[in-house]
Amino acid sequence: MKKILITGSSGRLGKELIKFFPNSLHPSRSEMDITNKDQVYQFIEKNKPEIIIHLAALTDVRECENKKDLAWKTNVDGTYYLVSASLKFVPEVYFVYMSTPCVFSGEEGNYNEDSIPYPKNFYALTKLLGEVIVRYSELKKWLIIRGNFVTRDRWPYPKAFVDRYGTYLFSDQMAKAIKEVLDNKMTGIVHIVGDKKLSMYEVAKITTPDVLPLTLKEYNGPPLTKDMSLETKRWKKYSILS
Ligand SMILES: NC(=O)c1ccc[n+]([C@@H]2O[C@H](COP(=O)([O-])OP(=O)(O)OC[C@H]3O[C@@H](n4cnc5c(N)ncnc54)[C@H](OP(=O)(O)O)[C@@H]3O)[C@@H](O)[C@H]2O)c1
Repeated sequence: MKKILITGSSGRLGKELIKFFPNSLHPSRSEMDITNKDQVYQFIEKNKPEIIIHLAALTDVRECENKKDLAWKTNVDGTYYLVSASLKFVPEVYFVYMSTPCVFSGEEGNYNEDSIPYPKNFYALTKLLGEVIVRYSELKKWLIIRGNFVTRDRWPYPKAFVDRYGTYLFSDQMAKAIKEVLDNKMTGIVHIVGDKKLSMYEVAKITTPDVLPLTLKEYNGPPLTKDMSLETKRWKKYSILS
């Protein structure tokens, strides 16, 4: 069995993903803080993973905007440390990087794997730079996954946007799909997408029927990606209702 390292395993997606990879290594932040180069190098040298699934990131758009230094250290430097440690200690590693539809402008929607990114906020910029680090490294086997997911928990806010869209899946469905693309040894860029473009409000309603509508006009904060819907030229689509 392959030795798998999952970063960000305590997060929304990580919690689901480790269920599909029960024998994986999934260190907590105190065991491997990705902003700490020495800790990353020591962990990779000691454990020599054959597959790395890199989820750890600062994901809150507002927090990334307000704490740019931390966002850069986590999403850009952290990814660089993992890639460079891999090249040093496990150059044959299969490196999987979880990215986001937010790398696109969100003006048109239906972005496929060949569409050109245009990040609109600092979170998106740092995630795109993570992609660049992976893609233009000397890693032989890498995969960048883009997709949108939400948990099956109650919607965490009283309101949800009626005019922001995505091809959403639940986080457990995304985790299962990640396992499937890895089993198929995919490399390059792949979009994991739901078969229906839904507003955030429509998605929120599934778990939280009393959620209230919100429009972007009422919103105050960093620019948001309006239409995050993705297409795929490379993989099947999934249904959020399955
Ligand atoms: N949520 C979405 O809709 C979405 C959509 C597309 C792509 N993504 C991407 O998918 C990935 C997972 O997202 P998520 O929503 O599951 O994230 P999340 O719930 O915000 O969890 C983030 C994870 O990263 C870890 N982390 C943060 N800083 C770290 C550090 N310095 N060292 C080690 N670990 C650190 C956190 O650990 P602690 O528990 O210690 O904080 C946590 O496990 C991210 O790369 C994100 O950019 C998310």
